[in-house]
Amino acid sequence: MVSIIVNGIDVSVPEGSTVMQAAAAAGFTIPSLCSHPDLKVKENCKVCVVDINGEIKLSCSEAAAPGMVIKTMTPAVLEAKRESLKKILELHPRDCLNCVRNLNCELQALAETLIIRSSDSKPLSLVKDTSTPSLVRDPSKCIACLRCVEVCNDIQTVGALEVKDVIPQTVDGKPLIETKCVMCGQCALACPVGAIVENEQIDEFIAAVADPDKVVITQIAPAVRVAVAEEVGIDTGSLDMLKFVSMLKQIGFDYVFHTNFTADLTILEEGNELLQRLKEGGVLPMLTSCSPGWINFIETFYPDQLDHLSTCKSPQQMFGPLAKTYWAEKMGIDPAKIYSVSIMPCTAKKFEAARLEMNASGYRDVDLVLTTREVGKLFRMTPWDVAKVEPSDFDSLLGAYTGAGVIFGASGGVMEAALRTVYEVVTGKTLEDVNLTMVRGFDGMKEAEVDLDGTKVKVAVANSLGCARKIMDDIKAGTSPYHFIEVMCCPGGCIGGGGQPIPSTIDKRKERIAAIYAEDAGLPLRKSHENPEVKLLYDDFLKEPLGHKSHELLHTHYAPTNK
Ligand code: SF4
Ligand code: SF4
Ligand code: SF4
Ligand code: FES
Repeated sequence: MVSIIVNGIDVSVPEGSTVMQAAAAAGFTIPSLCSHPDLKVKENCKVCVVDINGEIKLSCSEAAAPGMVIKTMTPAVLEAKRESLKKILELHPRDCLNCVRNLNCELQALAETLIIRSSDSKPLSLVKDTSTPSLVRDPSKCIACLRCVEVCNDIQTVGALEVKDVIPQTVDGKPLIETKCVMCGQCALACPVGAIVENEQIDEFIAAVADPDKVVITQIAPAVRVAVAEEVGIDTGSLDMLKFVSMLKQIGFDYVFHTNFTADLTILEEGNELLQRLKEGGVLPMLTSCSPGWINFIETFYPDQLDHLSTCKSPQQMFGPLAKTYWAEKMGIDPAKIYSVSIMPCTAKKFEAARLEMNASGYRDVDLVLTTREVGKLFRMTPWDVAKVEPSDFDSLLGAYTGAGVIFGASGGVMEAALRTVYEVVTGKTLEDVNLTMVRGFDGMKEAEVDLDGTKVKVAVANSLGCARKIMDDIKAGTSPYHFIEVMCCPGGCIGGGGQPIPSTIDKRKERIAAIYAEDAGLPLRKSHENPEVKLLYDDFLKEPLGHKSHELLHTHYAPTNK
């Protein structure tokens, strides 16, 4: 341990800690812009300066050493911080009221903290990149912290961004859609300002609600509920699901359903697909297909391995056609009038909903995707006293769910949900302990072996595209030992999706995962095949997993992209 003094307080920190970390241990947060708790030190912004034994130095990169005396706020430190910040602001547009990150922007907050009331500004006028349905890149707001480049190139291993003359840009300066970008939005989560943001579509939703000819319905993804609490200022996971339903009805939805329903349905379809491949010698390992950033990744980087993917659509895209066929018919509603909005943790879902082939219902299956952050903004248009909101039930036919559907939101959740069902289907026995903890947790890679009445099935879970790349390289080399692999694009799974609340640090992602498993543990039904509305759907409409109607509405094909 290293002992130092910060603002007169003795503190001991582990060897190798930075001065910034030592100050945090003593209770002082040092304002900064380019540092991020989950990323490498960058030394770009120079606003993290402190006084170390009488010298002004960067706290993010200086290692804490025995006997150091640190002062985080002296007139000279303040002056140096303000100078660094003014340099950044000189090139920055004063556009806060028009900015997606207004009121959740690290630069704006820092300018307020350091009381920068004026500084000359000649922002560069650069063109916004609106080429993807998922994200908008506004290089004029970029402060060149380079967080996005590390996330895209090192964690996701996509390589859509590069650094030219210390400024990040898309590879060869191409529009994002023409790069290898998979629309995961991890760069948007890391960006301290409004330089990469979700493609905000709140006005489209408001217009749909105002149209008397539209029946506006929604599905809420499993990862959204735990995180949306953060958007309304309460603890992660503490927003009662049924209050959430009421709040969505208040902002204009006519019917509220749950993507957990089609998560349960996915398990029935995907579980049976796995069993069919195991029995009939189909292509193994089978890879899950519910994460659209992952689908974009495999289509772009491993186009010759697409037959490993399950043919199941994602739960979002299973819900879309079912709402405009089965549910519309049962309710006697003209499907042409249904406006289907998904509430998702994910920016890649906006891209997925816009894929040309996603029209199995005869209409656009999902009309609009709003992220958790966008729904947070809609909620903040009406200030809520959440304590006073009366709960409402989900609407029926597509609204029932089990704990297995809930855990889809966390890395390992799809695998655990699948194993809960596959075990019972194959063995005919009851799975007494449904907590399959070996596939849970934040680790990038997890593996397990399951005994299905004498057949040993080897499974693995990968979260983040960097881990997916390792899995794919093994599959390509013919050395993968697995039968079934879950891949999620985003670190931690959908709870860390690119549309989730900011900040989405690793610690925050872990809190969301804990909230997901707590919800699962408290539910009366925890296996997908026990979902009563899924059973009804098969009895009344689909007839059987992998049947004709399922193939028409719930399964898809993948195509190589030539990016
Ligand atoms: S990035 Fe931040 S400081 Fe810049 S315009 Fe947007 S909110 Fe304002
Ligand atoms: S969305 Fe993902 S793939 Fe695209 S630039 Fe950002 S981090 Fe890279
Ligand atoms: S786009 Fe955002 S994350 Fe990337 S360098 Fe610019 S400010 Fe940093
Ligand atoms: S946080 Fe230290 S230089 Fe940016």
